[in-house]
Amino acid sequence: MRLAQILFSQGFGSRRDCAGLIAAAEVRLNGRVLLDAHEDFDPAGLTLTVQGQAWPYHASALLMMNKPAGYECSTKPRHHPSVLSLLPMPLRRRNVQPVGRLDEDTTGLLLLTDNGQLIHRLSSPKHHVPKVYEVTTRHPVDETHAARLRQGVMLNDDPDPTLPAGCEPTGPNTLRLTLTEGRYHQVKRMLAAVGNRVDALHRSGYGALVLPTDLQPGQWRWLAIDVPI
Ligand code: URA
Repeated sequence: MRLAQILFSQGFGSRRDCAGLIAAAEVRLNGRVLLDAHEDFDPAGLTLTVQGQAWPYHASALLMMNKPAGYECSTKPRHHPSVLSLLPMPLRRRNVQPVGRLDEDTTGLLLLTDNGQLIHRLSSPKHHVPKVYEVTTRHPVDETHAARLRQGVMLNDDPDPTLPAGCEPTGPNTLRLTLTEGRYHQVKRMLAAVGNRVDALHRSGYGALVLPTDLQPGQWRWLAIDVPI
C-alpha cells in the first residue's frame, strides 16, 4: 500500500493533507524520514511516526477508554463535551463511535470503533454481552437487597422484568451488578425501583474485557479488532 494511501486510510486528512505531511518530513519509520508518497509498504504491523507520534496501522479501529465523568457519549453532545473530544483528530476523522452509551456521570470501560458491523453485533440484544457495573448506592445495601434485584424488577415502560445476570454486595454501600441487556438508564432505574439511588456508577467489565487498572480516566488504548469480547 502506498504511503499516502496508508495515511489517508488512518484519518490523516484529505489526500492533499497526507501528501503535505510527507512533503513536510513529518512522517518517519524507525527514525527514517519518508519523503516518497508513493513508497509501498505492507501496512500489517506497520507503526509510522507522524508529527512525532507513533501510529500503529489498524485497518479497523477498536479502542478501549476509561470514560471520565462529565463527558457525553453522543456524537452531538448537548451539555458536556463528547468522549470523542478525548481522541486525537485522526481517530475522530475515521468516524470512531462509542459502542452503546454510558451516562454523562458514569465512568469506566467504554469501547469505541469505526467498524459498523462490530457496533451492530455488540449492541444487538441477541448478543447478550455481560457488562459489569460497580454501583455506589445512597442507602446501605446487603444480601437481601441484592436478592431482590436478582429476582428482577419491573421498569415502568417495560412489560418484562429486568433480570440481572449477577448482583452481589461488595461493601455497605456498593454492589456489583452484571447486566446483559442495555436498557436506558438501566442501573439507575433498577436501583430506584427497589427504593435506593445510584450515587456513583462505574463500568469495570465488558464481555471478556476488564478495565485495566493503569488506564487513567480520559485515557484510551488500541485493541486488536479480533480481540475476544
Ligand atoms: N445504567 C445506567 O443507569 N447508566 C449507565 O451509564 C449505564 C447503565
